[in-house]
Amino acid sequence: MPAHSPQPGFALVRGKVVRLDEASISLLDRSILYGDMVFTTVVGFHKTVLNLEPHLERLRRHATELLIPFPWSNQELAFDVTSLLDLVHEDKVQIRILVSRGLNGGLKPLPNLAPEKYVIVTPSTSPVMSGLAVQPKPGMALARGEHLKLGNYPYTVKALLEAQAAGFDDILWVNQDGEITEGSTSNIFLLARHGDELEIITPPVYSGILKGTTRDLLMELLYKAKIPVTEQIVLVDEIPRFDEAFFTSSIQGLRPIKSIGKHRLHTERPHATFKHIERLFLTWVESIIGFRVEWQSGKPV
Ligand SMILES: Cc1ncc(COP(=O)(O)O)c(C=O)c1O
Repeated sequence: MPAHSPQPGFALVRGKVVRLDEASISLLDRSILYGDMVFTTVVGFHKTVLNLEPHLERLRRHATELLIPFPWSNQELAFDVTSLLDLVHEDKVQIRILVSRGLNGGLKPLPNLAPEKYVIVTPSTSPVMSGLAVQPKPGMALARGEHLKLGNYPYTVKALLEAQAAGFDDILWVNQDGEITEGSTSNIFLLARHGDELEIITPPVYSGILKGTTRDLLMELLYKAKIPVTEQIVLVDEIPRFDEAFFTSSIQGLRPIKSIGKHRLHTERPHATFKHIERLFLTWVESIIGFRVEWQSGKPV
């Protein structure tokens, strides 16, 4: 295997299944030249993909929003994913579906440009699930409303590197009006207790977030369990009033946060509400896969 591509896995490129280290795409692909693409990342355990349909719907919606043609049905895409999954015999995998506007060098696309679809399946290696120290970061002109899932993360990578150098594990974006929005690749939930009353909040799409499939799923699970959760603007100055917080994403699942800036949280305590919410989520995972797994490794428990 070449030194530049140590990752095992398979890819579907222009209709052909190839080993990931042998996969290649054109340098004229607009995803490389202009970031002219949309994508999504899904997780799979023991050949079962979690929550695929909402990912495909979001991918289609984001492509359509950008006038990128999207000629594939969900059934076709699900078939692509399944055929790659059959080749990877791992407990846990990560599946990326990318849609590029196509191959054409000028910024203004030629008429009738055909979009390209790439699917990549790799074993998933999640880090150990210890609580994260998170640094609030003012974002450069973070737009309000729904953010699209684009291949455009260089400012996030820079912010992560800066946060890491300052001793943090992740960042929490803060928009120009001082509202917290989301993590580098995740949405956030914050919890506060007032006596017997529990408050669970997640920032609204209006604050400027990627509308996470895990965020949507968790809100639904909480509603069904009659646990109150609200979408509410949270100012960064309000952080000290919260007792617990966690990130959600398809890859990380529910990830506890141990501190935001200087404010310490109790998310990892044995009796934290987070543990109940995590159980609710893992029970849902079990209902899809058919047995219980440890989130990081995908090993049956
Ligand atoms: C910026 C951002 N927010 C939120 C999420 C979480 O989205 P999902 O739950 O659909 O994985 C991601 C996922 O990559 C992301 O990149």
